[in-house]
Amino acid sequence: MKETIENIRTEFLGWDLKDAAALEQFRIRFLGSKGLIKDLFGALKDVPGDQKREAGQLVNALRAEIEAYFDENKQRLESSSTKAEKLDFSRPAATRPIGSRHPLSLVRSQIIEIFSRIGYAVSEGPEIEDDWHNFTALNFPPEHPARDMQDTFFIEKGEKELALRTHTSSVQVRVMENSTPPIRTISPGRVYRNEAISARAHCFFHQVEGLYIDKDVSFADLKQTLLYFAKEMFGEKATIRMRPSYFPFTEPSAEVDVSCTICNASGCNVCKHSGWLEILGCGMVDPNVLDACGIDSKVYSGFAFGMGIERIAQLKYRVNDLRLYSENDIRFLKQFTGGF
Ligand code: DAH
Repeated sequence: MKETIENIRTEFLGWDLKDAAALEQFRIRFLGSKGLIKDLFGALKDVPGDQKREAGQLVNALRAEIEAYFDENKQRLESSSTKAEKLDFSRPAATRPIGSRHPLSLVRSQIIEIFSRIGYAVSEGPEIEDDWHNFTALNFPPEHPARDMQDTFFIEKGEKELALRTHTSSVQVRVMENSTPPIRTISPGRVYRNEAISARAHCFFHQVEGLYIDKDVSFADLKQTLLYFAKEMFGEKATIRMRPSYFPFTEPSAEVDVSCTICNASGCNVCKHSGWLEILGCGMVDPNVLDACGIDSKVYSGFAFGMGIERIAQLKYRVNDLRLYSENDIRFLKQFTGGF
């Protein structure tokens, strides 16, 4: 009996189960109703009583081995045949997601592009600034509240006090110190303020500063430049209005509103039914600032403006929570495709 079992084992392991037909032959020969396993079970009755138990176990083990071998090969053949049948060479290739630009990047690029068309160059400055460039040269009096610890992140105390810049106006100082008029430049960058983070305030955000210095630059030039910007950014129908304001580094100063792009100035929630949305601060560069930066205020005049990139993006894309810009939530970011 043992010898027969060994012979059957050697035989079944030698079978080449290369296709469904071979598999069926195999099944009939070993597992079929007239197969070798069936014969073995039949032969058990002739085995002497004291060896029956052991012989029965051996036959059972052999059957399990053959069945496993059969199943294994059956599966292999099935999966390879279905794979071949399912191949569809006409199917378009899967597209690769290529990501999208951050909304602040899109708006920043668009602002740069709009101003570069009228001759503005891009300039950048450091995010870690000294008091001179962030405040003093910009005509902030020593006791001005913006210098306060509550607004400014001071990062070093010592001989030279450094801080994270609170606005990109610091870059206009650096540009004026290092070049001679005519100057036409915009300075995009990140700024920091010591604010509690909420939907409407953040401890860092982005601004674009603009500066134009030449002989005989007037407030009319400023107004026309900003009107051009508003139309390019928000569409031909956009208009602007200027409200008197105060900044230490400009005189006179103004805040600029654009006609509400959402309701076409007819009044809605976003513009609080006024028809206007505030977009930037501006003014004629204060002669004190020109002189502090080495530009003769008797010869030259100029204007400056500063806008928040988040604010423009909010109006363009109706994003009402500032925190979304820095949370890296893919569901938010993937909505901004195309453009710049
Ligand atoms: N620096 C101002 C701020 O951070 C924005 C600003 C206002 C910039 C008027 C200017 C300007 O250049 O003329 O809020």
